Amino acid sequence: MMAPPATALGFELRVLAEGEDVSAVAAVATAPVGDYKDLDTLLEFAKGVDVLTFDHEHVPTDHLHALLDAGVNVQPGPESLVNAQDKLVMRAAIDRLGLPNPEWAAVNTVEELVAFGDKIGWPVVLKTPRGGYDGKGVRIVDSPEDAADTASWFQAMSPLLAEAKVDFSRELSALVARTPSGEARAWPVVHTIQVDGVCDEVIAPAQNISVEVAAAAEDAALRIATELGVTGVMAAELFETPGVGAGFLINELAMRPHNTGHWTQDGSITSQFEQHLRAVLDLPLGATDALAPVAVMKNFLGGENQDLFAAFPLALAFEPAAKVHCYGKSVRPGRKIGHVNLLGTTASDVDSVRSRATAVANTIRDGRVPSESSEENA
Ligand SMILES: Nc1ncnc2c1ncn2[C@@H]1O[C@H](COP(=O)(O)OP(=O)(O)O)[C@@H](O)[C@H]1O
Ligand SMILES: [Mg+2]
Repeated sequence: MMAPPATALGFELRVLAEGEDVSAVAAVATAPVGDYKDLDTLLEFAKGVDVLTFDHEHVPTDHLHALLDAGVNVQPGPESLVNAQDKLVMRAAIDRLGLPNPEWAAVNTVEELVAFGDKIGWPVVLKTPRGGYDGKGVRIVDSPEDAADTASWFQAMSPLLAEAKVDFSRELSALVARTPSGEARAWPVVHTIQVDGVCDEVIAPAQNISVEVAAAAEDAALRIATELGVTGVMAAELFETPGVGAGFLINELAMRPHNTGHWTQDGSITSQFEQHLRAVLDLPLGATDALAPVAVMKNFLGGENQDLFAAFPLALAFEPAAKVHCYGKSVRPGRKIGHVNLLGTTASDVDSVRSRATAVANTIRDGRVPSESSEENA
């Protein structure tokens, strides 16, 4: 998704691909296959590039330091990126900045987890600090008895992150971009709807959000980006807690274009993908104004149907204003394979925009007009 703006701006984008079959291979001219966990592969790949950046957070922090030592321009740098790689490091950084964290602790054993839950109240949320995504690595622990079941988690990784289970009204995302020179811009704060720990839908901007909370959330994201030296796009995932504390708590950080920013491809003057390239290259940032009073992004995940083109005629005819983005991935159940963006002409359109975007997404996913029951499950 960074390839179209790179082409428009005349930049050559090279991708270190995990395999021949990853989506980016089809999108860019130069995409050698290699293991991002292998330092020699990274050093070879980075030869001659102006800047090295990421579309996921899993490149080992030590390798990034080694790339820096070898003179590679790594953006964001390892000291910043570690806050998106390691949720324990991130929680400590948010505390240091005095920004709103849920109650949390590093826990090494089931006993420590039980002590944490007994102290702050059950249920609690247990997380692997590194390597998780899409809710993998997140588990709600209801009681001390339930905690006994988590022993294997501690065998796999320790310490783990324990957090209070936040009673939020909705999840929000504050998306910003920052350049190495320090220019920073924010997009409007959005409402993100997660299903089973996976982003399902985004409504931009978050409807009926209090002006104070929206401003404070945006400020918090800009401050995090500045104080942690973040470059490129950063998403701060938030829990909205009306009337409690600042009105929001910080969930986690992502330092790359993020699913909660996909709406910007069609809903903002500058998309997060273009902005990320401008930011890591230390170029002036683009305007982040929304192009419509409301934009909806609806993801579609792989289902039974393998042929995503089967219902294109139906889906595209149903809603000519919808913008469809398919990732060219092989279809596997539960895998993110595309999204639909749709703009509304007035904020009061939001329900209709949501249902039309959902109808397009589900029609493509299912290869036919979705039945009533599958729409309910969407
Ligand atoms: N402390 C918490 N309280 C309540 N829900 C939570 C908490 N932490 C995570 N969740 C839920 O789980 C989802 C995934 O957690 P997150 O830490 O963002 O993991 P991932 O790295 O997989 O995105 C969140 O979007 C939210 O819906
Ligand atoms: Mg998350």
